[in-house]
Amino acid sequence: MALVTVKKLVDSAERQGKAVGAFSVGNMEMVMGAVAAAEDSGEPIILQIAEKRLKNSPLELMAPMMVSAAQHARVDIAVHLDHGLTLDCIQAALDYGFTSVMLDASLLPFEENIAMTGQVVAKAARYGASVEAELGVVGGNEGDTAEHKILCTDPQAARTFCEQTGVDALAVAIGNAHGNYPVLPALRFDILEQIDKTVDTPLVLHGGTGITDEMFRKAVALGIRKINIATASFDHLARYAKAYTDTVDAPDYFKLSSEMARGVYDNVLRHIKVFSNR
Ligand code: 13P
Repeated sequence: MALVTVKKLVDSAERQGKAVGAFSVGNMEMVMGAVAAAEDSGEPIILQIAEKRLKNSPLELMAPMMVSAAQHARVDIAVHLDHGLTLDCIQAALDYGFTSVMLDASLLPFEENIAMTGQVVAKAARYGASVEAELGVVGGNEGDTAEHKILCTDPQAARTFCEQTGVDALAVAIGNAHGNYPVLPALRFDILEQIDKTVDTPLVLHGGTGITDEMFRKAVALGIRKINIATASFDHLARYAKAYTDTVDAPDYFKLSSEMARGVYDNVLRHIKVFSNR
């Protein structure tokens, strides 16, 4: 199979009434666990990393590994920059061979978000790469200290935004938030339904950790075509690692590495099944 664009995967998900899982990675074990789960399920996935995570997992180390893992996988895999905040980082990701980039200018005024997203669409087009943008404000944070208040996406604004920018995928805010939810969120499926009726562009759900399978299935039925999962994979890796080290006096690195990959594998496989309506 091959390294493919997010556009190819979300368009195919649209035809099949599914969503493709976009799984955040931060080290080799996470990449290996996610790719093995995709191969065993026979479904494509997206490997992604957010700009704010590059402090822990530098792009110059992660990017070649992510791209190579996709090129060698037995299923289609896209490699995506999640929550790109600066044009420099987006440029670097494209130069490393990422097949998709997200510009998150959702905290900027509408017109500025359109203008900056338009610049990224033009830049990505030179690489044949896809672009995701966000409209409205998803809650939580992506690794910094700022907590953002949720602001649901306006369906008419979403239509104007997609028409004027030509993005390949649009992240919507419907009460979802990044990180572990303190209480189960009340997702605004009514708003999602309106956005899906108003906008032709495939829709993306961020903040997948903690959303129930039933809510995922409903979101997919209402037009969500890409679902982001980060915290659940990091937590699984840490839990499996702890479970292993708790049981032995002298932890073995190689066993620890396998357990970390297995934690991510189990989490990714579970989500792939739900997203592909199994
Ligand atoms: P979670 O950390 O809540 O799974 O969110 C992932 C995400 O949306 C990354 O952009």
